[in-house]
Amino acid sequence: MAKPISIEVWNPSGKYRVVSTKPMPGTRWINLLTAQDCRVEICTEKKTILSVEDILALIGDKCDGVIGQLTEDWGEVLFSALKRAGGTAFSNMAVGYNNVDVSAANKYGVAVGNTPGVLTETTAELAAALSLAAARRIVEADQFMRAGLYDGWLPHLFVGNLLKGQTVGVIGAGRIGSAYARMMVEGFKMNLIYYDLYQATRLEKFVTAYGQFLKANGEQPVTWKRTATMVDVLREADLISLHPVLDKTTYHLINKDSLAIMKKEAILVNASRGPVIDEAALIEHLKANPMFRVGLDVFEDEPYMKPGLAELKNAVVVPHIASASKWTREGMATLAALNVLGKIKGFPIWSDPNQVVVFLEEKSTPPLACPSIVNAKHLGLTASKL
Ligand code: GLV
Repeated sequence: MAKPISIEVWNPSGKYRVVSTKPMPGTRWINLLTAQDCRVEICTEKKTILSVEDILALIGDKCDGVIGQLTEDWGEVLFSALKRAGGTAFSNMAVGYNNVDVSAANKYGVAVGNTPGVLTETTAELAAALSLAAARRIVEADQFMRAGLYDGWLPHLFVGNLLKGQTVGVIGAGRIGSAYARMMVEGFKMNLIYYDLYQATRLEKFVTAYGQFLKANGEQPVTWKRTATMVDVLREADLISLHPVLDKTTYHLINKDSLAIMKKEAILVNASRGPVIDEAALIEHLKANPMFRVGLDVFEDEPYMKPGLAELKNAVVVPHIASASKWTREGMATLAALNVLGKIKGFPIWSDPNQVVVFLEEKSTPPLACPSIVNAKHLGLTASKL
């Protein structure tokens, strides 16, 4: 017999059984569920990544909805089990859902929620932090200090790159890419070059207006350019940040050939998904070009790094923490819980998944709607009129 999974239970007599595969930050998400007659079961297993078998055991024979994590493999096996248990709702506690087979969820009539609109700035700030850490060699310098190697100021000590007046390249100028671009333009007066299938009109307007403001104040104006191909961004930018979704078209978008196009002293940042970069090719490139630097939040075989990456001084690496600010993580938990609750209760779908702050106001009751269900259209779920 399989070993029982350890859980913590809230509101044991609740009518609807909602499972969370992980403890999540804050308590508002638990309170919102229990106030609406849900029994909440939180998996407290010490294991970081739950297997499909673990989650099957958590779903059990009766389960109305599950809140899951981006490390889990949500496909045919789990959605069919959830359907058998009477469940109709699943939400990732993440904006990205490349771990979810949405067509399998469609087949079993399970709604799939995600958490946009609450992690845009937080993720962009981490991409900006990686950009600065790589440009100014912060991690190398920190390690040098701690190792007791600093014996006095030197003209050549940890010389890095100045960002002001350089060109920032953004690949994928959606919510997060645009917020990052704006930070780098506004904060460091970088010029922008971007590639996206869609025009980032608001971003372009912002850079134009900011450029005019700088000019009126006697400063060098900033500029923007949208390119027809990604290659132009790779060729021209001094700092490049990747913000595409991961799908078949963006798998290994950055590979040996695209790295060869980039400037020898460029900086590459990735806070999107690991497989967007061919990590083995990146390691070879970093070895051959010591002045090329990289800031990575995500990895191809997460949680592992490909052999050789950990030893490279020109790489700054952090463990997928881009959305890890308290406000954002508590907000993600709340949105994920409300997606599941809303589907169970038959609430409509919020009309604009980018405007979700109204669900996060601590002191007020959230709207009676599901904040963001990615397969709402397929399931014929109605939109909220609120
Ligand atoms: C984090 O990576 C997310 O997709 O929310």
